[in-house]
Amino acid sequence: EKGGYDHFMLKEIYEQPRSVRDCLRGRIYPQQGKVQLGGIKEYVEKLKNVDRIIIVACGTSWHAGLVGEYLIEEYARVPVEVEYASEFRYRNPIITEKDLVIAISQSGETADTMAAIELAKEKGATIFGICNVVGASIPRLTHAGVYTHAGPEIGVASTKAFTAQVTALTLMAFYIAQQRGTITESKLIEYLTELNQIPTLIETALKANDHVKMIADKFKDATNCLFLGRGSSFPVALEGALKLKEISYIHAEGYPAAEMKHGPIALIDEDMPVVFIATKNSSYEKVISNIQEVRARGGHVIGIVSEGDTVVKEMADYVIEIPQTSEAFVPLLATIPLQLLSYHIAVMRGCNVDQPRNLAKSVTVE
Ligand code: F6R
Repeated sequence: EKGGYDHFMLKEIYEQPRSVRDCLRGRIYPQQGKVQLGGIKEYVEKLKNVDRIIIVACGTSWHAGLVGEYLIEEYARVPVEVEYASEFRYRNPIITEKDLVIAISQSGETADTMAAIELAKEKGATIFGICNVVGASIPRLTHAGVYTHAGPEIGVASTKAFTAQVTALTLMAFYIAQQRGTITESKLIEYLTELNQIPTLIETALKANDHVKMIADKFKDATNCLFLGRGSSFPVALEGALKLKEISYIHAEGYPAAEMKHGPIALIDEDMPVVFIATKNSSYEKVISNIQEVRARGGHVIGIVSEGDTVVKEMADYVIEIPQTSEAFVPLLATIPLQLLSYHIAVMRGCNVDQPRNLAKSVTVE
């Protein structure tokens, strides 16, 4: 049942070229520069006129929501707020029938997310779902939605469900952009052609596995770890940290790289590995100066870099390469080595990676 893999988590990590492809299937037409999302097509008028989107979710799904915020704001130019469902539901939030709420949930059964949906519905908002489990409670509560098609996820720590959620949000961002005319057809052709290649590029990223395992061996005894990124790599850093703490029980924190000097820099010493997402895009130079600040304090650096990078390679203790891609798609690739890193560290520490202590696959109580 584990398909020859030692754990479901590893099997599911390796399934990502397939799961992302399944999420894209029948939804993008690169040559025509068209995105089609049958599940929400009845809401095109709503999408054209909406002036605020609120994303609600928990845990890893909330991290996917943060990536969605960057993508929707960048391409569709609609203001987005991303909320923890548990905070949103108890805050007497300001919400009207003009709002669009997007609830993200792998299981479709998370109690706090369901309660947030019910509250938003009472106030008249339109609710979309992004769910993996077909026919679960959340898809039944929402007005419309997009399934992620990642397939059943057995490992408690979410891997392929996360990348499928990010894929669905990427599709949604381009779909909304297409409806609102905030992106040109030629740009869409360019982006969708590239998006269509992402499953293949994930395969390439997975080839770093042995190298990542070697790096895991060097850092397996750490007691703390920091994950830093900027832009849409910031939520990837949060997700990298969550994966490590969940399955290896190493204390880890994700931060926007620029926030480091506002506090966490005090923690840096030779016992604190720092994982930087330092791919070649708009914030590359800025991330490099953040790496220098860590090096100057004796911190050990692991860099997730674009293929062929030489600058970070000179500064970091170790680098892991991912294929070069547009900024929009970096989260889908940069996540892969972070999943592998957590997986190998946890296995080396003798942890139960598929069923970490104290965690349940779906959290049906608040
Ligand atoms: C982390 C993880 C959890 C879930 C969270 C929400 O690996 O799996 O943080 O993401 O409990 O669950 P869903 O997406 O089912 O609503």
